[in-house]
Amino acid sequence: MKANKIKDDVFWLGVNSPSSREFHGISTPRGGSYNSYLVLDEKPTIIEGTGKPFIQEYLKSLKSKINPEKIEYIIIDHAEPDHAGAINEIKEVCSNAKIVCTEKCKDFLIAAFGVQSEFVIVKEGDELNIGKRTFKFFPDPMVHWPETMMSYLVEEKMLFSADLFGTEISHEKLFADEMKPFQEITRDYFAIVMRHYAIPVQKAIEKARTLEIEYILSSHGPIYRQNVQSIMDYYYKLATEPEENKVAIFYYSIWHSSEKMADEIAKGVEEAGSVAVKYDINQSNFVRMMAEAMTSKAIALGSLTLFAGHHPLFNAFFDFLQLNNQPGKKAGVFGTYGWVSEAVPKLKQKLMDLKYDMIGDVDMRFGPKTDKDLLRLRELGKKLAE
Ligand code: FEO
Repeated sequence: MKANKIKDDVFWLGVNSPSSREFHGISTPRGGSYNSYLVLDEKPTIIEGTGKPFIQEYLKSLKSKINPEKIEYIIIDHAEPDHAGAINEIKEVCSNAKIVCTEKCKDFLIAAFGVQSEFVIVKEGDELNIGKRTFKFFPDPMVHWPETMMSYLVEEKMLFSADLFGTEISHEKLFADEMKPFQEITRDYFAIVMRHYAIPVQKAIEKARTLEIEYILSSHGPIYRQNVQSIMDYYYKLATEPEENKVAIFYYSIWHSSEKMADEIAKGVEEAGSVAVKYDINQSNFVRMMAEAMTSKAIALGSLTLFAGHHPLFNAFFDFLQLNNQPGKKAGVFGTYGWVSEAVPKLKQKLMDLKYDMIGDVDMRFGPKTDKDLLRLRELGKKLAE
């Protein structure tokens, strides 16, 4: 991988991993990327490191641009191993560099990796002059860990945002405007990395909006250089009002009765003018389902009764769903039973515990059999779609 030029004196040093298929529980059909950046000035500076699996590729890229001994600063915006896992190997070659980070990040780097270094600790609004240019720092704790911060290169109007504004995708092109659409992957990344921290994310974006930004350089995914507003607005929407005109239906079925019920509810949703998306929870990625639930205006859950309840996979599903933290969202449940009804009452109770607004349930012994049964299911779909 060669160091790609972003603009004069600023280079991408990142690593693309097109064959990666999983990150943080996210299915990554278009791979992953771990970005780092180099600014050549009187005091050459790296922003972000890389993870251990990529260190050789990373160092090759770095050495193609500069003798690492000349690096004066390594800015670490986030201590998670995909950003800083290889910090000791980087420090070994950048032997004269100081690490620039928050106090909390210093603590994490020492605790996680045993880093031995001279540190420059920065706080909100602190500046670091590197020659013709100046960095300004904006800690944004809990976006995604407590030590995270954004670094702003004032003269270049560049915001290095760490996980914020990221997408876990291998970017064969450097810039977002050169790539085919990938918003669904951004959404899935947001669901598992950011949604649980929606309020800190919202505050960080509001802070970023006060800056004049021409480039957004996240640690994951392509660089934004045109219309940086679009990624900021999309992230803000996902943090504040992610709902679309869509109902997400999740089911577990063995003998196809719950599946048939899901199909009928979906017809009701579409008859009411909304979009229905269906997921068999035994076949689907949990983060994808969490993202679909997050961006739906209502959800429906269905299971047959087994083991005196719903299928146990729903327990994991509820753990993911809880991270969305969307009290008041409309929900319905449906299911089947043979001799005692256990799935529907338990699904209903768990959704109520998560503060969903229960608007209906349909429970059928051995599944739907009559037109009237099917109508009841379509009616539930319509109520969810309203
Ligand atoms: Fe890219 Fe929070 O790690």
